[in-house]
Amino acid sequence: LARGVTEPDLRGRHVVVSAGGTREPLDPVRFLGNRSSGKQGYALARTAAARGARVTLVAANTTGLPDPAGVDVVPVGTAVQLREAVLKAAADADAVVMAAAVADFRSATYAAGKIKKKDGQDPDPIVLVRNPDILAEISADRARPGQVIVGFAAETDDVLANGRRKLERKGCDLLVVNEVGERKTFGSEENEAVVLGADGTEIPVPYGPKEALAETVWDLVSERLR
Ligand code: CTP
Ligand code: CA
Repeated sequence: LARGVTEPDLRGRHVVVSAGGTREPLDPVRFLGNRSSGKQGYALARTAAARGARVTLVAANTTGLPDPAGVDVVPVGTAVQLREAVLKAAADADAVVMAAAVADFRSATYAAGKIKKKDGQDPDPIVLVRNPDILAEISADRARPGQVIVGFAAETDDVLANGRRKLERKGCDLLVVNEVGERKTFGSEENEAVVLGADGTEIPVPYGPKEALAETVWDLVSERLR
């Protein structure tokens, strides 16, 4: 089925996209974080807006990326803040796409003052606790019947098998799986992926701009919303 590039097939829809990477503070000046640039999430937000959707972009530490025109941007820092913002926006959403890299763990403690070295002493270990799994939570407890939920996963090996297992564990409708390694994906303008569907489908997306992958994601979401 051919679709013109400007056909507003998401008009009247509210979509939520999370982007970037969460940062989990250790003290006022330090954090545990990841290398997610936010570019794939921003491409998803831009393309959804171009297709007529009302877009809420929950943006974790994406300073440097310009706010996409006509998109509601909600800045967040940590995984707990990202969860709050996504749950709130998802309440009336037709689709939620979790492109953000959510830190799996945060420090069990937060030092209100800067952590200092102590003469002749080894540093204290950092004790970690699990962060909430936002994708699993919103998939298990859908805010609306028929809401379409999409996850992203970066895998280094056994990409398809790991992706399929992850899709089942998360309970989402679609999982975009890409292979990462040296110089692949992080911070780059291009991406290559396979989109796995809970219905057993497997759609390969050839190496290309993050916009192209975003358009494919919205094609598949749009199909499921009809
Ligand atoms: N995700 C989430 N909440 C978390 C961790 C991940 O919502 N606490 C979402 C991500 O936004 C992404 C998807 O889950 O859309 C897959 O993330 P990934 O890190 O690949 O999954 P994990 O279950 O954390 O598995 P792994 O142990 O491989 O990191
Ligand atoms: Ca993870």
